[in-house]
Amino acid sequence: MSCQYFQHCEHGADTFTVMMPKLTFGRGCLVEAGTRALTWGMKRIALFADPALVNGVYVNTVANSLKQANIDFAIFSDIRIEPDDATVISAAKFLSDGSFNGVISVGGGSTIDTAKAGMAYSLYPAEFLDYFGPPIGAGQPIPGPLLPHLACPTTSGTGSECTSVSVIRINDLNCKFVIGSPYMLPSEALVDPVCTQTLPANIVASTGFDLLCHAIECYTARAYTRWDRIEDPRKRPLLQGANPWSDMAASKALDIVGKYIVRGVADAEDSEAMDNLMWGATLAGMAFGNSGTHLPHAMSYGVTHLMSDITTDGYQVESPFVPHGFSVVVSAPSIFRYMAEGAPERHLQAANYLGADMTDATPNDAGEIVAKRIIELMKGTSAPNGLSGVGFDIDDVKAMSESSIRQARAIANAPKVANQADIESIYADAISYW
Ligand SMILES: [Fe+2]
Repeated sequence: MSCQYFQHCEHGADTFTVMMPKLTFGRGCLVEAGTRALTWGMKRIALFADPALVNGVYVNTVANSLKQANIDFAIFSDIRIEPDDATVISAAKFLSDGSFNGVISVGGGSTIDTAKAGMAYSLYPAEFLDYFGPPIGAGQPIPGPLLPHLACPTTSGTGSECTSVSVIRINDLNCKFVIGSPYMLPSEALVDPVCTQTLPANIVASTGFDLLCHAIECYTARAYTRWDRIEDPRKRPLLQGANPWSDMAASKALDIVGKYIVRGVADAEDSEAMDNLMWGATLAGMAFGNSGTHLPHAMSYGVTHLMSDITTDGYQVESPFVPHGFSVVVSAPSIFRYMAEGAPERHLQAANYLGADMTDATPNDAGEIVAKRIIELMKGTSAPNGLSGVGFDIDDVKAMSESSIRQARAIANAPKVANQADIESIYADAISYW
């Protein structure tokens, strides 16, 4: 495998690994949940349901499908949006008490991530931070397989149905961190775009920008060949840097989100737009589940750790709350202005996939072209205008940079590695864009 970005480097990795669940995509496929659960030998299922959907049609569709297949189930829906340690401990207890031999999750990334992490602590009890990586955790691997897990996303952004990671908030530390394990990859996914047609505009926008950032971060990430070669395949990171597989999925996801995010936000009943955004989210999940994200996701933690007195229309969540996709995209234009010189051709290609005006474009312009296109899409979807749009000002940037610098692996996965002063400066340039 060779192309310029993946040329072999001395001491660099010379293999990449692709992890994917079995996946079914299409309108109405949720009705297959029962039949598919049977093929995994599921007899008693823990059904993790988004609390906003637990009494709604999508969870009912899955529940009825299980009943028709004569499969017993119990519902768990005590799930915080952006799940925290308390949510995961409660989920683990539910699983331990229920004698389940399978899990189905129906909801956004919070629900799917809760199911993944809950299973880990239920089956392999440990101190809570043991499975988190340094510097906050002990970095212990999850010791063995989890239960068969059928993941059914209901938003078009998270991609969690395709990834081996779970993002959890640690309340005592006031921060979010990732647990990753190959055992956390769902066994199968049912991706039904019908689930997105009732989403409020702000949820389509925020999840759509999560999709966009997953895709562009994958496409511009440090190449896998520029990470050190690790001889023992069991010790290689799941999030291994940009690779030919993640390129393939991320480039198509960028094309989709550039074409359809404005239409989907304007009208979630625009089935062409929403079907494409759902597929784009899945593609971006396939990409970042194998490559990892980089600085926009790392810097989103500065937003969610320090936000105060803010909510977002469409989300039934108490203040303070900034949805994940907005927390990522508010700094993205400023980040890509800084980042592009680390891989200018890649940034130009990404801008082209996103539908940017490429007239007279040169590699020197790459950061500005990417930034301009993201800003166009933010304006076209009434997204927050930079950090000021989610309640921050210049006085906050030092504390935000101190918080984000802890995301060491994501920062190192960028084509140009930022230090804390760089991050502070990037935040300062992200206060507003228009
Ligand atoms: Fe994300």
